[in-house]
Parts: sequence; C-alpha cells; structure tokens
Amino acid sequence: MKAKKLVSLALAGAMVFSLGACGSSSSSSSTASSAAGDVVSKSDTTSTAATTSTSTNSGTAITADLSGKKVGISMPTKSLERWNRDGSFLEQQFKSAGADTELTFSDNKIDQQVKDIENLIADNVDLLVVAAIDGESLSNVLADAKDMNIPVISYDRLIMNTDAISYYVSFDNYKVGQLQGQFVIDQLDLDNAGDKTYNIEFTAGDPADNNATYFFNGAMDTLKPYIDKGTLKVPSGQTSFSECGTASWDTTKAMNRMQNILGSYYSDGTQLDVALCSNDSTALGVTQAIESDYAGDNKVIITGQDGDEANLANIIDGKQTMTVYKAVKNETYVTLALGAAILNGEKPDESLISSSGWDFDCTYDTSSYNNGTAVIPSYLLTPTVVTKDNIQKELVDTGYYKMENGYPKAVG
Ligand code: GAL
Repeated sequence: MKAKKLVSLALAGAMVFSLGACGSSSSSSSTASSAAGDVVSKSDTTSTAATTSTSTNSGTAITADLSGKKVGISMPTKSLERWNRDGSFLEQQFKSAGADTELTFSDNKIDQQVKDIENLIADNVDLLVVAAIDGESLSNVLADAKDMNIPVISYDRLIMNTDAISYYVSFDNYKVGQLQGQFVIDQLDLDNAGDKTYNIEFTAGDPADNNATYFFNGAMDTLKPYIDKGTLKVPSGQTSFSECGTASWDTTKAMNRMQNILGSYYSDGTQLDVALCSNDSTALGVTQAIESDYAGDNKVIITGQDGDEANLANIIDGKQTMTVYKAVKNETYVTLALGAAILNGEKPDESLISSSGWDFDCTYDTSSYNNGTAVIPSYLLTPTVVTKDNIQKELVDTGYYKMENGYPKAVG
C-alpha cells in the first residue's frame, strides 16, 4: 500500500503519538563517554510525557504517551554523518513521546555493538532500535533480546539470520541505486548515444551492510543494458560487487581504490565520464582521487547518497553531480509510530500508514526483505534525487537544511 495523504487521525484508545514533535527542551539528558564506544547518552524523561504537538517539515503532529517505557537505540558509528542525525532524531522522537532513551554509537566495531546491545538489554529496555554495523553478527545478542521479550526494530539496515526482529524500517534501497543509474542515463542521454561511448567506474558500499548490495544492484541492473550494448565501458573491468565494495564505507579506502584505477587505466589519457558511487562518504574519496590523480579536464559525473554536508557543498561547487537524499527524520517518525504500536501490544501492518497522517510516501512491504529466517515486514520510504538545481526546493524549502554562507547545513 502506498500512502501520500493527510488523513484525519483515528487514534486507538489512549494511544497518542507525537510525530514531528521534536522539541524536547523540557527533558533532562546527560552524556558520558562509554568505555569503548563513541558516546552513550542516557535520558530520563519519565516526568515529561509530551502532549504538545509541533508541526514540522513532515508529518502531521500527533501525540503519544510512552512514559514509563525505555527505548534502546543502537547506531553504528558517528564517523558517517547520517547516523548522528538518525541517533539524535530517534532520541528526540521517543523522548517527545515521554519515553526514556538510551543511545549508543559503536564506532563501526562489531564487538562493540554486541556489547552495547548487551548493555541495553541489561538496562531493561522495552524496545530496541538497531542499525547494524554487520548484519550477520547480531544473531546471538538478539536471541537474548528475544528471550527477554524485547521487540527489535531493524533500522535502515536489515539484520540477517535472526528471528528476533519484528519489523524493518528503511528506504527503498534498490530504488536508491536505480535513481543513480537513471541519472547517468539521463545526463549522458544514453538512449540517443548512437555510436558514442562513455567510460564509467563503480564504487560500492560496505559488504557487511545488507543495503550495499541493493544499492549496487539497483544501479547495475539499470545500467547493464548500456554496458552490454557497449555504450558504457568499464575500463577497469571491475563490475562485480565484490570488486567494487568499500569496507566500512570508508572515504580513504574509496579514494585509494579510485587512485589505483586512475593510475592503471586512465593515465594514458583515457577519459573518465562517470564515477558511480553508492553513497556520499565514498563519493567524497572518489572526488578527492579525481582531483589529485585524474589527468583529464572534463567534468566527471559523480553520484552519491545521503546529503552529507561536505557532499552538498561539493554539489554547489560543481565537484559532485548528485546525491540521493533520504529524509532520515521521516524514517524516525515511522520508527516512533511503529515502536509505539508494538509497545501498545498491537500487531502493526499497513494500516499504520493510513492512520498516520504522514505527508511523505511510505510503503508497507511484505515480500522484499528476507533476512534468512523469514520475510520481514517492512516500512519503506522513498528517496529523492538532489542536484544543484533542486537543493533549495528539496532540502532547504522543506526545512531539512538551512543555507549558511551559501552552503546547506543540516537542521538537527
Ligand atoms: C547504508 C545507509 C546509507 C548510507 C550507508 C553508509 O546502510 O542506508 O544511507 O549511510 O549505510 O553509512
């Protein structure tokens, strides 16, 4: 079911959500360094159950009372910009509904995330929201959560091989790649290329992240007909996910790999037309490699994903061509609504969308995401292509970013 609607809210019983009520100024919070992870912040808002509704750029404000409930939020790392936003929006959302929250970042270290989740379980959380570093490595700790009857929402990245997760909230990940591929087709007008050929190189994401293959396959499936036809050529010959992957989505690794490719296949003056990068952190490294090691003077089309500030600045400056923006704030609205329904003993389905009042697209999907134990019911949001031409309309006018000295800064 697809929803793009503002409907009047039919709230069941005493269930009152607060979607879009991001103000938490009355709640107390403290932040402390964790033993080995990045930062753990704990909050206690039991006395401040939010009943205020605040209109924001998305969603219709409604109120919820989750006082007495504690939500554990496990994010992968602070080193990738978006997860900072996810962590803080999730915290704001659940706090605004009156819940206690405990937020951990695990420094992209798998063992650390296992420990962080163990601690959240030991702290008696009522709900876990987890964005996995490695989708394959949380089976044991989540089995413990299941034993304790703690529901788990797999946030953004699907957690594999565990029957402990009840739902998945994400964007349409395959679509992200399709949008990148279609952007290249449109920019180069590949359907009318005739005998003209173009050179492209691919940079994919972290093999441990289940999303990364969806992004890559979405782009590759879209562009493959043009590769097969010979309109697109890949001088490095690296067209498989395993050849193009970037551990930890690391900027320096992406840069080094692209420098090697440029040195090996382009130093003879071969023109690079497209660097298809699955996300912004890798696009940043690839852009640096092109600046330092590419001899040509043509403008290389560079794709990305996330709307990281450095990349948006590069888009404004003409160094990166596009990013696929995912409004993570909306992802957190869906997570709050879902989490609140679960904590209320409901079995959420597509009616969560129709009763929500969200003014953004969300699809309930019960076929696409099998985590190795079952198909996980998924709420999928829709990503948007952002270029220099529509940054203002898509990112600033919507309130997600504000312009500072000519460059977009995320509004947190
Ligand atoms: C993915 C996520 C992307 C991107 C990437 C790197 O799982 O869906 O938005 O941020 O990780 O962190």
